[in-house]
Amino acid sequence: MTAKPKVWIARPLFPEVLARLAQHFDIEAEALDRPHDATELKQKLAGVDGAIVGLSDRVDASVLEGNTRLKVVANLGVGHNNLDLDALTRAGVLASNTPDVLNESVADFAWALMLAAARRIGAAERWLRAGHWPGSNMRFDDWMGLDLHGRTLGILGMGRIGQGVARRASGFDMRVLYHNRSRLPELVERECRATLVDKPELLRQADFLVLVLPFTAANRHAIGAPELAQMKPSAVLVNIARGGIVDDASLAAALREGRLAAAGLDVFEGEPQVHPDLLALDNVVLSPHIASASAQTRRAMANLAADNVIAALGQGEVAGKPPT
Ligand code: DGY
Repeated sequence: MTAKPKVWIARPLFPEVLARLAQHFDIEAEALDRPHDATELKQKLAGVDGAIVGLSDRVDASVLEGNTRLKVVANLGVGHNNLDLDALTRAGVLASNTPDVLNESVADFAWALMLAAARRIGAAERWLRAGHWPGSNMRFDDWMGLDLHGRTLGILGMGRIGQGVARRASGFDMRVLYHNRSRLPELVERECRATLVDKPELLRQADFLVLVLPFTAANRHAIGAPELAQMKPSAVLVNIARGGIVDDASLAAALREGRLAAAGLDVFEGEPQVHPDLLALDNVVLSPHIASASAQTRRAMANLAADNVIAALGQGEVAGKPPT
């Protein structure tokens, strides 16, 4: 009997997904959700045919050096800036991600952050939990936030997730502007009720600006001090894309100095570290990169990653597509 291929799973996965993988492979699954450094990744990947990794596991040329066994790396996420695709291709290793299954959950979460940041839900909750309400001197004009309805929503990056964010805006009676590498087909624009504008116009007009760009070298600090200076002081910035797209130090300065009203951030430069200046501010809502973390979607992502490994190692049909 030939030995089963070996697969390392770098993140804890659902028992039923592990059980499915175990039917095909000799699996080693990590019990804790933590990033792995290059030395550990190199050592783990050296002894396996396939791996399922998380977004904080950086698979690059140094990690792949000398590895002649590995055939597939499946990323638990749609963004794949943690994978050096050139290095993987050179090493003859297939790469996959989890597109589409998370679009709607991430779009939902953008709205959660927009609402929480605009209506100061995080700060109000902290105040309440600190025991302030009973007998406090709360005034009628305390805790005033910003309305979403009737305002202008700007979306930077209009792929499937951006389109999901846009479609939800009609329920809030918002005007939607977007900026994207290319114009969407007219039908999609109509469905999203969205109008293409250039980036400076988007920055100037948006009351709420949601970032849904992929992280590439060109998009690094797409929102930095010059862009923040073009935005309305009453605007709210939401980042559900990748941390490096925003210059966090400049963002914190703008929020502190009242040059921007509020922000909702799910992703950070250098995460899992969060810039200390952001942590010190009350007008920012912070979450630990959980936009896709609904029960249904995380299951779908885990299953898709498993399908991809099963297919790549010749055990079944391809269920997902490789990152482009
Ligand atoms: C992804 O999958 O890339 C997203 O960041 C999940 O929230």
